[in-house]
Amino acid sequence: MQHGNVTMKLLDNYGRLIKDLRLSVTPRCNLHCLYCQPLDWEQSEPPGTISVEEVRNFLTAMRMLGLEAVRFTGGEPLVRKELAQMIEAAREVGVPDIAITTNGMLFKRKAKDLVAAGLQRINLSMDSVTPEVFRTMTRGGEVRRVWEAIETAWELGLEPVKINAVMIRGMNQGEVIPLAKLSLDKPLQVRFLEYMHLDNSNPEVYQQRFIAGAETKAHLEREFGPLEKLETDPSAPARVYKIPGSLGTIGFINPVSEAFCSSCSRLRLTSDKKIRPCLLTDLELDISGAFAAEKPVEALVDAILLATDRKPAFGNTLPKLRERVMVGIGG
Ligand code: 5AD
Repeated sequence: MQHGNVTMKLLDNYGRLIKDLRLSVTPRCNLHCLYCQPLDWEQSEPPGTISVEEVRNFLTAMRMLGLEAVRFTGGEPLVRKELAQMIEAAREVGVPDIAITTNGMLFKRKAKDLVAAGLQRINLSMDSVTPEVFRTMTRGGEVRRVWEAIETAWELGLEPVKINAVMIRGMNQGEVIPLAKLSLDKPLQVRFLEYMHLDNSNPEVYQQRFIAGAETKAHLEREFGPLEKLETDPSAPARVYKIPGSLGTIGFINPVSEAFCSSCSRLRLTSDKKIRPCLLTDLELDISGAFAAEKPVEALVDAILLATDRKPAFGNTLPKLRERVMVGIGG
């Protein structure tokens, strides 16, 4: 394939290989989780939101620089009508690994088209298994639809299915054991995420709500005994364990207490066309000019090189007022 030619590897100033992209395709969402403030899905896409052609050009440029995996995020990526076309573009330019992070609400309906377009894996956000807790945390979501999404993913052979649960004190601590139990007899990776201060909540309230991954792990080990450590890709954010004898696994993503900056392999592109070299730094490079250039792919390669050059050694995990909330960056 013409565009699939990989010409180089992308290394940053700290020797990190940049090979993963998180690509937010919309700031809109059909849920309103308590720790997130998306645009409502019933609003129209804000002007300037990235188009299919722009996604294709950006992925072409990233692929020339050695991109190995793209994860489409939001907002909620499935509320973006053109998501299947974007996935298809990723496949056409030769991205080897194509995934989405979704809340699953629309997945059953759209899954076949997405898989036909080239989708290979999904991560589902599910902070709770108890319907009432789920409804409260998502402001009205139905957990039953996440289950339908999991089953649909299995039927279509999308594996491994991963579940993301952001742990928040006073909200879903009681869900730790029920969530972990899902891994006993199901081929799921249940991942506990530390709550990051990406929602502009009051820093003191944030501190009260924050639960370190080590606390969640201790909680689990009181119930299940020592977890068994598994060897996994060190550049992946999750540390993976299993309850001895279980079918699935348990992951911990601890960006705050154990920031994994030294093995970070990621760039992010926001839905309004800004590169975020680091999730935990406010630095953003507006690259809309490169998309509009006469030779956009070449201009985008330059923009990506510049963003990589600006990628900081470490992010700032301390709570502070941020310029942008999670929505439109996409995890
Ligand atoms: N802290 C940690 N994780 C978050 N996510 C969204 N907001 C936060 C936050 N403040 C997670 C969601 C979703 C993924 C895209 O990011 O659970 O699965």
